[in-house]
Amino acid sequence: SLRLPLSDCLDAAVTAAHAAAAILQAYAHNRGDLVIDTKTRNDLVSQADREAEQAIIDILLERTPQLGIVAEESGGKASDIATWYIDPLDGTTNFLHGIPQYAVSIALIAHAGALINGDQPLDRDTPVIGVVYDPNREELFTGLHGVGAWLNGRRIQCSRAASLAESVVGTGFPFRDFSFADEYMPTLHHAIRHTRGVRRHGAAALDLAWVACGRYDAYWEMGLAPWDVAAGTVLVREAGGICEDIFHADPWPIGGYVYAGNTNTATELDAMIQPHMKPRQSRSS
Ligand code: IPD
Ligand code: CA
Ligand code: CA
Ligand code: CA
Repeated sequence: SLRLPLSDCLDAAVTAAHAAAAILQAYAHNRGDLVIDTKTRNDLVSQADREAEQAIIDILLERTPQLGIVAEESGGKASDIATWYIDPLDGTTNFLHGIPQYAVSIALIAHAGALINGDQPLDRDTPVIGVVYDPNREELFTGLHGVGAWLNGRRIQCSRAASLAESVVGTGFPFRDFSFADEYMPTLHHAIRHTRGVRRHGAAALDLAWVACGRYDAYWEMGLAPWDVAAGTVLVREAGGICEDIFHADPWPIGGYVYAGNTNTATELDAMIQPHMKPRQSRSS
C-alpha cells in the first residue's frame, strides 16, 4: 500500500513542477540557443524538455523513492503501488515557437489494489494527484483524489453550462498521427456548428485544467498519451466534472481518447462523438 500520505506526494509534485518551470522559462527567454530534435515529423523535443524532465525525476526519486516513474522523454517503469506520469513540457510546439501556452504536468496514478490513505483498496488504476503549472500565467492547478481541485490555492469548479450550444469547447487537432483523422474531423465539424466556439490552444494538460476551472465548458481530443491527460483528469473530476475515455474502456487505460466537461456538456459531447468512432477491435495501428 501507499506508505506516504498523498499530501506529501502532492508537495513533492508541486516542488518538482516549479523546478521544471524555472528551467523552461530560462530557455524561453533564449530560444535561439535551443537544440531541437525531431522524433518523427512534427514531433519535436528540445534540451528544455529533457532538462526539465530530469529535474522533476530527481526530486520525485528523492522524495518518493518507492513509487514508479514514467516520463515522456526518458520512459521509465511503473511500480505496483503507484506511478508518476510526467510531462515536463506540455505544448512543446508552442514553446519552441514562442507561443506562451504550455505547462508542466505531473500526475500520480495509484494502481489497482493500492490502499490510499488507509481506505478500501482501489479496484482500478486511478489518477490520484494532478499538478499542472502554467509558468506564463503563474497558475498552479492542483488536484487530490477525493479532496478537491484548486487554482493557486482556491477551490475550482467546472462551468455550469447547460448545453454545448452555450459552450466554448477546447480540442486538439491531429498534427503528427493522422490515423484517427477520419474519426476526428466529423466531430470537429459538429462542434464548430453547434457550440459558441472551438479553441485549439495546443497543450492538452492545460486544456483539461481549463475545463476544471470553468474556462472551457468541455474538451475532447484523440491520440494523446497518459502523461498528457492523467493530471488533468484528477483536476476535472475533483472540480465536479467528467473526464473519461471516448471508448468507455473499463478501466480506462488513461490516455489516448478523452472527453471532458461538466455532467451536461460531457454527456452531450460523448453522444456527439460516438457515432463517428470505429469499433476498437478494428483500430489496428
Ligand atoms: C502535445 C500537446 C498537444 C496535443 C498533443 C500532445 P507535447 O503534448 O498536449 O496539445 O495536441 O497531442 O502530444 O508533445 O507538447 O507534450
Ligand atoms: Ca512531445
Ligand atoms: Ca504532452
Ligand atoms: Ca511534452
